[in-house]
Amino acid sequence: MEIRKMIPDDYERAYDLWTRVPGMNLASLDNSYAGIARMIQRNPETCFVAADHDRMIGTILGGTDGRKGFIYHTAVDPKEQGQGIGTALIDRVCAQFKRDEITKIGLFVVINNEEGKQFWRQKGWNFRDDIVYLDRDL
Ligand SMILES: CC(C)(COP(=O)(O)OP(=O)(O)OC[C@H]1O[C@@H](n2cnc3c(N)ncnc32)[C@H](O)[C@@H]1OP(=O)(O)O)[C@@H](O)C(=O)NCCC(=O)NCCS
Repeated sequence: MEIRKMIPDDYERAYDLWTRVPGMNLASLDNSYAGIARMIQRNPETCFVAADHDRMIGTILGGTDGRKGFIYHTAVDPKEQGQGIGTALIDRVCAQFKRDEITKIGLFVVINNEEGKQFWRQKGWNFRDDIVYLDRDL
C-alpha cells in the first residue's frame, strides 16, 4: 500500500469507498466527478489516497483558502481500519499545510457520527462550542 496524491482518475474508486464507509456526508456538497476534480486541481498537494494498486483503501481531501486549511472525506476501508492509515493520511495533509504556512485547520463531522467525533478528539482536535456553522445554496 502507498500513500500518494489523489488524481481525478481515482474518483470512481474513491466514491465507491465513500459509499461503503459509514459517517460520510455525501449529500451536502458537490461530490460529483467535476466537483472533486476541481478540488484536486485547486489543491493538488493536499489531496491524498492510500491505495494498493487498484484497490482504494483510504482518502483525505485537504483544501485551503491560503489562510486556513480544511479537511474533508477522511475515510479508511472498514476492513483496514485501526492500522494507522487514517493517522498517516492526516499527517501527510498537516505536513503540507505546515509547509504552506497554514497555521489552523478545520473540519466538519456530522453531529451523530459519534465514532468520528471520538476519533478526532482522540487525535487531539478541539471541539468548538462557540461557533455555529451556516451555509446557503447558490
Ligand atoms: C476515522 C477513520 C478515518 C480512522 O481511520 P483508521 O485508519 O482506522 O485510524 P488509525 O488506525 O490511524 O487510528 C488512529 C487512532 O484513532 C483510534 N481510532 C480509530 N478509529 C476510532 C474510532 N472509530 N473511535 C475512536 N478511536 C478511534 C485508534 O485506536 C488509533 O489510536 P492510537 O493512535 O492510540 O492507536 C476511520 O475509522 C473511518 O474511515 N471512519 C468512518 C468515516 C469517518 O467517520 N471519518 C471521520 C469523520 S469526517
